[in-house]
Amino acid sequence: MQTTLQTEDLNSLARDYFVSWEHLPYRSLYDNYSNAALAYLSQFPEIERGSYSPSGSLFLYTEPDMLVGVRQLFSESSNFGVHCARLEPAVFKHPDPYGICEIEPAARFLRSVISTLEGPDHLSAIADSSDIFTQHVLQTSGFRLADTIAGYHIPLAKLPAFESDPAIRTARPDDVPRLSAIATACFSQCHLNINRFNAEPAFDNDVAGRTYGNWFTRAVLERDADLVLVFDDGNLAGFLTLRLPPERETKYGVSIGRFVLAAVDPEHHGKGIYRRLIKTGLKWMQDRDVRFAEGKMHLSNHGPINVWQSFQARLALTYHTFHWTKNLIAGLNRLEAALATDLGT
Ligand SMILES: CC(C)(COP(=O)(O)OP(=O)(O)OC[C@H]1O[C@@H](n2cnc3c(N)ncnc32)[C@H](O)[C@@H]1OP(=O)(O)O)[C@@H](O)C(=O)NCCC(=O)NCCS
Repeated sequence: MQTTLQTEDLNSLARDYFVSWEHLPYRSLYDNYSNAALAYLSQFPEIERGSYSPSGSLFLYTEPDMLVGVRQLFSESSNFGVHCARLEPAVFKHPDPYGICEIEPAARFLRSVISTLEGPDHLSAIADSSDIFTQHVLQTSGFRLADTIAGYHIPLAKLPAFESDPAIRTARPDDVPRLSAIATACFSQCHLNINRFNAEPAFDNDVAGRTYGNWFTRAVLERDADLVLVFDDGNLAGFLTLRLPPERETKYGVSIGRFVLAAVDPEHHGKGIYRRLIKTGLKWMQDRDVRFAEGKMHLSNHGPINVWQSFQARLALTYHTFHWTKNLIAGLNRLEAALATDLGT
């Protein structure tokens, strides 16, 4: 009983911050801000106050007008062998216009939260591209830009009905070795895909690629996706993973189907395989009365962006991911000092 009451108190505390948070994700899609706040909040089933520990909980740190949540990222931690956590949400209310005098106290609060965290060696944080204040706070606190994502929404009712594609079928367990190898190859190298893992100097590029290979494997073998489509015209050359709208959003009247991960064998790039996978995914979502299809891409990923725009996609969200790495600055300073000694400067 005690725990239930506590959880309710924390939920209402967080809701108060989110309801008036200008950068609350997907805010404009909901009838009212309260529903948007509740849907956002319900993605965190366990909420605790402060004192982060490695667990599934979201730990909230608050000051008047400031709230920061921290939670462990399990699959990232196990893939990279580094304790990774996510700092999300980061809610900073501030006067407008603002200056250094407003940024510095927020950065001081954030640094004080980080200094109490025992465990994480790597933190990621997201800031909407319009949320310049939070971007200043993160950069003043030692975070570095890792990537910029464009999220597109396709209103499915506006599209014509699509035909089935004979070369596209659902994934089978025996597809996993070949397609997870394609995912690993496509996401490890920046020249094929830039992502926040292969863009992070503290992470190994091969491990970055294997992270995506593992996600694909889990999507098929552990059903960590509602559908996995593969392109197979006799040669297994690509895949797309999809998620149906989650109940935490549909119960507030918002229906967004997610196109999560896609990759095509580099030997077969430029032959329209991705476009065909996307078209079949759109048909699958249309058949299930999904309202919007969502695809998120790195801003430099022109091919997928062009494909999505050709299906009447609208730019719906843009955000930056920032990384903070414990001791990275100290490590770089040591490296610089060692090089200076070597060069006799
Ligand atoms: C992105 C990827 C899936 C595209 O696969 P593909 O089968 O080669 O793509 P398609 O042949 O369907 O081409 C898609 C479009 O991109 C265009 N395109 C390709 N490279 C481009 C570039 N550098 N700039 C602009 N447009 C480009 C093509 O012209 C095509 O548009 P069109 O149909 O209007 O002619 C593939 O390159 C890949 O696996 N990349 C690495 C992983 C990745 O980025 N996945 C997507 C994000 S999850």
